[in-house]
Amino acid sequence: MKLSQQSFDAVAAAFHQISGIKLVPAKRQLVIGRLQKLAGERGLSDLDAYVDLVIKGKDQAELVKVVDRLTTNETYFFREPQHFEFLADLLRQRRPGGGDFRVWSAASSSGEEAYSIAMLLADKIGARGWQIVGTDLSTAMVDAARRALYPMERARNTSPAYLKRFCLKGNGPYDGQLLVKKELRANVQFMQANLMQPLPDIGMFDVVFLRNVLIYFESDAKAEIVRRVMPLIKPGGYLFTGHSESLSNLNTGLVAVKPAIYARV
Ligand SMILES: C[S@@+](CC[C@H](N)C(=O)[O-])C[C@H]1O[C@@H](n2cnc3c(N)ncnc32)[C@H](O)[C@@H]1O
Repeated sequence: MKLSQQSFDAVAAAFHQISGIKLVPAKRQLVIGRLQKLAGERGLSDLDAYVDLVIKGKDQAELVKVVDRLTTNETYFFREPQHFEFLADLLRQRRPGGGDFRVWSAASSSGEEAYSIAMLLADKIGARGWQIVGTDLSTAMVDAARRALYPMERARNTSPAYLKRFCLKGNGPYDGQLLVKKELRANVQFMQANLMQPLPDIGMFDVVFLRNVLIYFESDAKAEIVRRVMPLIKPGGYLFTGHSESLSNLNTGLVAVKPAIYARV
């Protein structure tokens, strides 16, 4: 399928307005690949006609699907293990009392990050005394996170002990998949939230995972996101970014303590 420059620009502008992410011209082929299926579902073999329907036709429900398709959702359990080691150390030093330990997975994608944190907290704190909130721009990803059913492959970094304790192995039609156990899911809540817009009232957090999402933004938008996220970190709490992301030059007021780990002092 082909996509005219005009249609690409229209999609890129709408996507940028909603997500804050710029689609550079080099992404045109990727956009074609991702929108083809959606156009087919609407019985259209012409991508320009599909873009007209969504953008000119102001079809909001279809636009949500386009945004879902254009976000990059790659994730897996216990990705970037240094953060989990740091978190485990933090929990070891934690004094009793002081309320629930709260963690926010701020671009949670399909939920593997939030459930990895949950496994660690359940192991180190116990069944109660902690909460996790996962948020993502993509409603499809929020739905997937709530389902908590994953290809086994995504758990390649998960210890066999955690797999056994916190996950169910699929059989029959679910062969090759795992389901996160209900008891673990009970303390993990997912909701849709756009980091480029005022955030829902989700309280404050001891640790915020803001990983592998800033990479898609220009410096101004990155700074804006960090400005919005920062008040939700408890004083003395931490912000984790992806290891390929940097907050240097952003003047955030956060203190770098280790690679991709920042403290709110
Ligand atoms: C590559 S995934 C990162 C998942 C996980 N944090 C990790 O490190 O494995 C990036 C996620 O950011 C989400 N995202 C992109 N723009 C966003 C925005 N403006 N607000 C909230 N989430 C956004 C995407 O939907 C996607 O699920």
